Amino acid sequence: MINALRGMKDLMFEDAKRYIYVVDTASKIAQRYGYNYIETPILEETALFKRSVGESSDIVGKEMYQFEDKGGNDVCMRPEGTAGVVRAFIQAKLDRTQNQKYRFYYYGPMFRYERPQKGRLREFHQFGVESFGEEAVEEDFTIIQMVADIFNALGIGYTLKINSLGCPECMPKYRDELINRLHSIKDDLCSDCQRRVSTNPIRVLDCKNSHCQELLTDVPKICDRLCNSCKSDFEKLQYMLDRSSIDYTIDKHLVRGLDYYTKTAFEFVSSEVGAQSAIAGGGRYDRLVSFLGGKDTAGVGFALGVERILELVKMPKSSREGYYMGIMTEEARDILFDIAHKKRVDSKVIVEYAKKSLKAHLKGADRANARYALIIGEDELKSKSVWLKDLETKEEQVISVNDL
Ligand code: HAM
Repeated sequence: MINALRGMKDLMFEDAKRYIYVVDTASKIAQRYGYNYIETPILEETALFKRSVGESSDIVGKEMYQFEDKGGNDVCMRPEGTAGVVRAFIQAKLDRTQNQKYRFYYYGPMFRYERPQKGRLREFHQFGVESFGEEAVEEDFTIIQMVADIFNALGIGYTLKINSLGCPECMPKYRDELINRLHSIKDDLCSDCQRRVSTNPIRVLDCKNSHCQELLTDVPKICDRLCNSCKSDFEKLQYMLDRSSIDYTIDKHLVRGLDYYTKTAFEFVSSEVGAQSAIAGGGRYDRLVSFLGGKDTAGVGFALGVERILELVKMPKSSREGYYMGIMTEEARDILFDIAHKKRVDSKVIVEYAKKSLKAHLKGADRANARYALIIGEDELKSKSVWLKDLETKEEQVISVNDL
């Protein structure tokens, strides 16, 4: 027997229903915030992710589904959505239009060759948004508010962590100071962190190793070294969050696992999902468009991991819906198909093809969770009518086909 690959799952029945409910709910909310749907290819040139997510990140360094296609191109299955949307934005020359804002939302599969565990898959689904051309920190707040709206609509509790990662003015200075300090404690850090001191020093700050965290207590943090403009934006974000009902904490160690962020970085976590507690993450990436060859354009966005929240989603109770239709005499077959096709204009219709007894049909209608059972037997055929039972109210009636 051939099974699905490790870390990859079939979405069916209840999970599939939940998936559709999550992306429908999130899509409707994103549309209310002015976002338009975008779909970009799953395969992209490997260089796109190397340049955006960053070669020193775990995602690019260890986790990419990367291969050479039949034409000899170095391609890769997208590990995240932002890079592809930025590429599409530049390719469509939207960076050349002046003072325009563009807002996109997307959902679909992402691929990371990670060690699978609960909440961590190799193929998983994200819902995300990307906003272009808005420099104001109000946009960061608005996106955070949208994520909160989505989780509230889905009935999912969360805590929000925020940080600021600075800009090209304050970050490099801080980075030099950090490297100096890290060198003084390097020998005591874990082996991953020792490597990161030279490849990606900022990532040392969010190491999960408790001994490293102890050593990092006195190490300066970027949000204490922000330039005036970054500091004022970060304070404004806090002011707006304070005015809203969204609880948050400042996490000075929050640096995110992707290299493209500047200024605001945030993560939504849930205590209900186990070790993989991050249910959404995002932030600002004002340098990414120009870094990928476009004109300097501000950007900010987020993505949530659908599988991480699937079990927690509070779905509205599914009620009986549509028709189950069946025949008790062969001669009624043609008319049943005509009725079914007419009803399908606005209703869900499930047709049982086999001729059966009334009792067997009612059992089938119940299994199909139909609201109505519509059955044609010999008597109904003669009188050009149907037998209809409302399975919720238990009401039964015979209606003429013309009145249906
Ligand atoms: P990310 O934090 O790498 O950000 O992923 C976003 C979310 O995807 C995570 O919070 C988590 O819920 C989910 N996720 C990540 N990896 C896995 C996995 N292996 N299995 C299951 N779920 C997972 C990004 O991807 C950025 N592109 C977000 C963004 C958009 N920033 C700006 N715009």
